[in-house]
Amino acid sequence: MSGSLVIVGIGPGKPELMTPATQAALARASDVVGYGPYLARLPECSDQRRHASDNRVELERARLALSLAGAGRDVVVVSGGDPGVFAMAATVFEALEAGDPAWRALDIRVEPGVTAMLAAAAEAGAPLGGDFCAISLSDNLKSWRTIERRLAAAAEADFVIALYNPASKARPHQLVLAFELLRQRKAADTVVLFVRAAGTSEACVVGTTLGAADATRADMRTLVIVGARATRRIGRWVYTPRGEESVAL
Ligand SMILES: C[S@@+](CC[C@H](N)C(=O)[O-])C[C@H]1O[C@@H](n2cnc3c(N)ncnc32)[C@H](O)[C@@H]1O
Repeated sequence: MSGSLVIVGIGPGKPELMTPATQAALARASDVVGYGPYLARLPECSDQRRHASDNRVELERARLALSLAGAGRDVVVVSGGDPGVFAMAATVFEALEAGDPAWRALDIRVEPGVTAMLAAAAEAGAPLGGDFCAISLSDNLKSWRTIERRLAAAAEADFVIALYNPASKARPHQLVLAFELLRQRKAADTVVLFVRAAGTSEACVVGTTLGAADATRADMRTLVIVGARATRRIGRWVYTPRGEESVAL
């Protein structure tokens, strides 16, 4: 098969945070496939076909990209942030596994991007300086019970926890429930950060504590970081020391 498929992440927002490798893949593409608002962030390119789709049709989008590449086109699939973090790369491989066996011979590549968690951490200082984990609070593709078990395990292990997809209009209660669960397992003065639109000119960081955290602050452009015991403030910055031995588990 002569077509190619590159799955890229365009970073959190600022053009400077898109990698040169992603920019080069986009410049070479005959077809760009992605969620409409992400495609709208890319500069126009007259000799390129764009295939915008809605949220929640990821598998359909992945199949379209694979069939375009199967027909000999040079396709780029676009995700926000990094394509492998709660995004299209895994969906493309899912479609590849279930789809036309001939697709497996395609030239497929994944280009990394700056994920929201890293952009959000940088806005606040260095909250991910020690061990950390990332959990999506969306229960569209997994059960809420699974999310609760992972939150409890992360709290027990004293990870810094980055919460993706903390809330949306369709899911306003999940961060409320997550904070309730974490409050039963972590100190009330644990640092909590709400970072909205990280890595964009509208970036906004609100620091608070787990005891006082108001879940309604989060929307679908917010990344929530819940600190470990060692996470602390210094002036307007928040960091987690790399040497955590001072805080006994
Ligand atoms: C479906 S996930 C996609 C994550 C993306 N692939 C990445 O690597 O950043 C969408 C979630 O990422 C977070 N997010 C994406 N961009 C963000 C930004 N600029 N600032 C803060 N959070 C962001 C939000 O929690 C949002 O609900």
